[in-house]
Amino acid sequence: VGAKKILVPVDGSDGSCRAAAQAAELARALDAEVTLVHVYDATAVAAMGLVALSQVDLGKAQDEVSKAAFSKAEASMGEVKLSHRQVFGDPAKEILAMAENEGFIHIVMGSRGLSPMQEVLIGSVSERVIRHAPCPVTVVR
Ligand SMILES: Nc1ncnc2c1ncn2[C@@H]1O[C@H](COP(=O)(O)OP(=O)(O)OP(=O)(O)O)[C@@H](O)[C@H]1O
Ligand SMILES: [Mg+2]
Repeated sequence: VGAKKILVPVDGSDGSCRAAAQAAELARALDAEVTLVHVYDATAVAAMGLVALSQVDLGKAQDEVSKAAFSKAEASMGEVKLSHRQVFGDPAKEILAMAENEGFIHIVMGSRGLSPMQEVLIGSVSERVIRHAPCPVTVVR
């Protein structure tokens, strides 16, 4: 059996950083590892008209956004075994695919993300992950 792994989806929002901090604490208590995943949202990219960019430029843009989300999250995590994943596609779909295929014991994520609609109780990505996840999900508010 491999190491216990906790999946932490991060989008650069304050909520996802609080989730990352909580996940790190949980990982230390369980002697588990944390995988941070950032999904570069395919529809958002299309809406911004970035489809006109070359593959190389798109890859660079993705890399920058993902790395910023990772370093912001890591600032609140402390010492923990950590790995990073940069994925392109629909956030909820990609998070669920990783959870299904890679044996994570737990998902820890924010209740809200980057959307400015603050009156909503829970974001659509969190809602879809809670609804379909194959493992326990902790939603951090
Ligand atoms: N692109 C993404 N990559 C990785 N994790 C994400 C991504 N988007 C959201 N998340 C995760 O989901 C949590 C909730 O964000 P969500 O996107 O559901 O809410 P929102 O942005 O407030 O609303 P919505 O996106 O539905 O308009 C975030 O705190 C983060 O943990
Ligand atoms: Mg969002």
